[in-house]
Amino acid sequence: MAKNKYKNWKVIHDDDAIAWLHLDVPKSSANVLNEKVLIELDKIIKELSEELPKGVVILSDKDSGFIAGADINEFTTFESEQAALVNIQRAHDIFSNIENLKCPTVALIHGFCLGGGMELALACRYRIAEEDSSRLGLPEVKLGIHPGFGGTVRSIERMGSFAALDLMLTGRTLKARQAKKAKLINFAVPERHLLTAAKQTVLNPPKVAALPFWEKIVNSALLRPYVAKILIKKVSARAARAHYPAPYAIIALWQKHLGNRSQMLKEEASSIAHLLLGKTAQNLIRIFKLTDKLKALAKDKSVSIKHIHVIGGGVMGGDIAIWCALQGYDVTLQDQRHETLAAVIKRALKLYKKILKQKRLVVDALDRLTPDIKGNGLATADVVIEAIFEDAEVKCNLFKDIEPKLKRTAIIATNTSSIPLEQLTASLKKPERLVGLHFFNPVSKMPLVEIVVGEKTSKKAQQVAINLTKKIKKLPLPVTSTPGFLVNRILMPYLTEAVKLFEEGVPISVIDKVALDFGMPMGPIELADTVGLDICLHVAENLAESMPITVSEHLRELVKNKVLGKKTGQGFYTFKKGKKVKPATPKNYVPPTDIKERLILRLINETMACFREKVAGSKDLIDAGIIFGTGFAPFHGGPLQYVKDRGQEQVIIALENLEKIHGPRFKPDDGWKTITVD
Ligand code: NAI
Repeated sequence: MAKNKYKNWKVIHDDDAIAWLHLDVPKSSANVLNEKVLIELDKIIKELSEELPKGVVILSDKDSGFIAGADINEFTTFESEQAALVNIQRAHDIFSNIENLKCPTVALIHGFCLGGGMELALACRYRIAEEDSSRLGLPEVKLGIHPGFGGTVRSIERMGSFAALDLMLTGRTLKARQAKKAKLINFAVPERHLLTAAKQTVLNPPKVAALPFWEKIVNSALLRPYVAKILIKKVSARAARAHYPAPYAIIALWQKHLGNRSQMLKEEASSIAHLLLGKTAQNLIRIFKLTDKLKALAKDKSVSIKHIHVIGGGVMGGDIAIWCALQGYDVTLQDQRHETLAAVIKRALKLYKKILKQKRLVVDALDRLTPDIKGNGLATADVVIEAIFEDAEVKCNLFKDIEPKLKRTAIIATNTSSIPLEQLTASLKKPERLVGLHFFNPVSKMPLVEIVVGEKTSKKAQQVAINLTKKIKKLPLPVTSTPGFLVNRILMPYLTEAVKLFEEGVPISVIDKVALDFGMPMGPIELADTVGLDICLHVAENLAESMPITVSEHLRELVKNKVLGKKTGQGFYTFKKGKKVKPATPKNYVPPTDIKERLILRLINETMACFREKVAGSKDLIDAGIIFGTGFAPFHGGPLQYVKDRGQEQVIIALENLEKIHGPRFKPDDGWKTITVD
């Protein structure tokens, strides 16, 4: 009999006296554990404990999965640690009540079961997951926090310390079979057996195997400090404590409180309340929401793309074609040279094997990628992506040649990294079909694509480009067609300042370390070597015409001598087998004290110029673009958020000081006077 007195839950008692708790959060494509869901769950569990059923099964009525996590919108509303703690404590109490029910409890999982959803499942005695669709994990660390509804304790109890700590510290998600192996779930079953498996588990509760004996040894109070030391060393290689405190808090909880369950639960709650109110978590949560904002830009449902034709099979065109075919599109790839196309297929095979693993899937993906030296694909393509040499005249000639061969509705997307679209439309009969689709290198790793909108670009071309970007699992960022667009434009002053520091005698390892300490994923000098010094020079020369950067003579010299960075084995750094050789820093070297300010404030000043010129639509979009396009220290929340946190006045004063010492390239942008970043 159904008792449907709740908004989020439906409780059904079946003929075997099993209570089925169906979660279906209204007006949402995915279930999240928000306050209302938890308050209702609290009531349901209290009722069930008074009139105990034979067993309880918790499941989701959503196609998207079980529960995607706690509601992160609520994470940013707490005014104090105490307020956060009250909220967290309530979830703790509910999950303990579930755990203490005197009947078998089962979480019946399909699709996403993450964060708070996983913690709810861990509070049940059994977890059964659908074998294909399930993705399970505790990814809180990616938001600057850790499991907070008892998950640190229960994951360790169910999985053992090593497996649970690995899951929490990496934030990775597991498929059902991996989760079963790791003891995160009890059973992985096909969809058709899910309900029966849950029922049978309640009616004949199986014994849960104990953890291996060596777990006791690892967990002993004597050994834990040593193991913790190793874990901290591993974590610190990836994330500095000052920037990312959450993984260190997980290790501390384990080291100090394992063995004292109630204390560990209590400490977990206060630790997450503390982290939640911290800047790192608030900024990482903001970035998480920004990804949704970018994805939501793809709103035109009428866009239909079946066939993509890529022209230029070099570094970028080849990788773009490989990626689009991987994501399910039929792709033809045109280049002038057979050898280039052959090399792309070789690259594709390597990537597909790595990602897809199964031979059948690899063959299917390769089948979708067709070398097309004659350009036969032009006639049927919905989107033509141009990635030939960075030369406006060469690109214009190509457009003139291909336009008559295209479908009436086809759009042309150029991957130019710095040429404004207005310089490329002259030869087109329909200039409105040209849009920029600016991918970053390496295509398979970089999440952002700038959608460059020229004066003449049609709304339709823009939406096709945005939708395509979302479909191939990248984040679209619309930007205006100004030189360098957003990402290269703000990067260039930062990179040229780094080269200037080098020319002044600062060792490259020192320059890069300062940037790494600030939280950048890679130092600017290594970044220049990785992108390719020829490309950096080309973009710098292009941008020098419109912004205050000086192209380094040293850089010109290197490029002239074919010293191009990682791809030639030698740039500012030496590379051996693709790996950077660490140069020695001169002994007793004392670096200038303003390296960080010089690097970061040049980037920040240019970001303000872009904000003032509305290169991207809002402060949020600018921050998102710069984080996803450059890796700008995510825990700072983006350059404009950094200004807000540091204080706009402080930033202006710092720029003025640098201007006095180092010259007009640090002159505060006009935007600082008229725009506040709050
Ligand atoms: P690349 O030099 O590696 O490749 C260019 C390819 O285009 C070559 O294989 C060449 O044979 C082919 N090609 C030239 N003219 C052609 C024509 N008329 N028909 C057919 N194929 C032709 O260049 P890369 O680095 O791939 O750059 C391509 C474009 O992407 C440029 O506009 C560049 O600014 C842009 N870009 C480059 C990035 C990078 O990191 N390399 C990053 C983002 C954009």
